[in-house]
Amino acid sequence: MNTATSTEHQALQSTAEIVTAYQRGLRDLPREHGFEPLAVDGDMPRDLQGTLYLNGPGLFSLFGRPYQHWFDGDGAMTAVKFGGQVSGAVRLVQSRQLKQERAAGRQLYTSGSTLAPQWHRRLGVRMKNVANTKPLLWNERLFALYEAALPTEMDPATLETLGETDEGGLVKGFFCAHFHEVPSRRAFYNFSIQRGRQNMLHLYEMPAGGAMRRMGSVPLPKSSAMIHDFIVTANHLVFFVPPIRFNLMPMLLGTKAPLQAMQWRGAQEGTTVIVVPIDAPQDYKRFEVEPFFQYHFMNAHEQGGEIVVDFIRVMDFETAFNSHNKEERGGNAATLGRLYRAVVQPQQGTVRMEQRWDQPCEFPQVAPRIQAASQRFGYVLTAKEGQPQTAVAKVDFETGQVETTGLGANRFPGEAVFVPRADAANEDDGYLLAMAYDGEVDRSFIAVMNARDLGRGAVARAWFDHHIPRPLHGSWSGA
Ligand SMILES: [Fe+2]
Repeated sequence: MNTATSTEHQALQSTAEIVTAYQRGLRDLPREHGFEPLAVDGDMPRDLQGTLYLNGPGLFSLFGRPYQHWFDGDGAMTAVKFGGQVSGAVRLVQSRQLKQERAAGRQLYTSGSTLAPQWHRRLGVRMKNVANTKPLLWNERLFALYEAALPTEMDPATLETLGETDEGGLVKGFFCAHFHEVPSRRAFYNFSIQRGRQNMLHLYEMPAGGAMRRMGSVPLPKSSAMIHDFIVTANHLVFFVPPIRFNLMPMLLGTKAPLQAMQWRGAQEGTTVIVVPIDAPQDYKRFEVEPFFQYHFMNAHEQGGEIVVDFIRVMDFETAFNSHNKEERGGNAATLGRLYRAVVQPQQGTVRMEQRWDQPCEFPQVAPRIQAASQRFGYVLTAKEGQPQTAVAKVDFETGQVETTGLGANRFPGEAVFVPRADAANEDDGYLLAMAYDGEVDRSFIAVMNARDLGRGAVARAWFDHHIPRPLHGSWSGA
């Protein structure tokens, strides 16, 4: 694919300067607050009405003990309301464990890659629900999701933490952060993983206006330590289970936290593909193909008896995972993924793989109405080799063109959420909303981009008067 680049992405800076500016933003949330007016510059679109929710790690240490990895930090939830005066709120998720730790004045829990202090490990590994990965808005309820715990419900109007929920005993094990919508079914789908002698994948349907139901379950291979995301078509749920196993001995001995104890098993095992018919989950297909890893999927659709899956293939799991530990702090994006298309043939038990763009990229998105169908446009964050993500890219699957834009020197966008215009006629009639960190003024803002004219960069910005550590994922609510 060819890449057209806007001038905002051409800042003449050394990689070291860019990395330093990016990492400055990875500090504790300086203050929590309810909705406050945000300063707006540029031309804020009048038809942009609704609320952007963003979830990400809000703390990088607790009581002087640093978290070992970006993914370990206690979650922060940000909400930004558009329509008239733009206002923003941000609060830490008050998990049961964080409240206990704050009352005790010390760390008590193991979090991802960070072990609890030595004296406390003797009491057995106790995990914290950091609720830091993705906001779910479902039936006017807000949840902060984290893949190693239950959902945490929050008040969408105040960002007050309401607490963990298993939805009346329905959710078994750990609930994934990456739910997906099938618009034609007016429902979200998600999964949980229940670990035991036989690891199980449980499947859930969350209809608009209806109650959650568990659809069925599929046994998982032993190597299924990380299933970060999955994807949907109009008729199927599709999983790529990478060959990663927990090294149990150091976890049982209390010498390694779970995320430190993950082992890539690509030399021994392949990736397990699971294809589940939504209307007949018991008729799932499960087969093994060449080993590969991914965090995030872009979209999927069906073509005859095949399933076309667009996703970000990560070329080296361990290097990519470790690039976000406390020493490297995500400054080096060289190990990020590439955009791939996998054509899955469930009947034959095979997958055909093709790279669609050769540049580093992550955080894939499509317009909501085109989810579970064939998209023309996909949106990703992109980076130059060796640098953090500095630009947003629009990939045209029809022409092969890729348009990218930066937000200015030392401004670093997070995931760009697509918000369709109310009167959208074309797939790309909409806005891309990304929280960005400005490393020069040490403040965060929401960049509003026009998806049909991405080369212009941000058409408007709404500024917090402080920095917010980079969020992982966002969700839009039209309400
Ligand atoms: Fe994710």
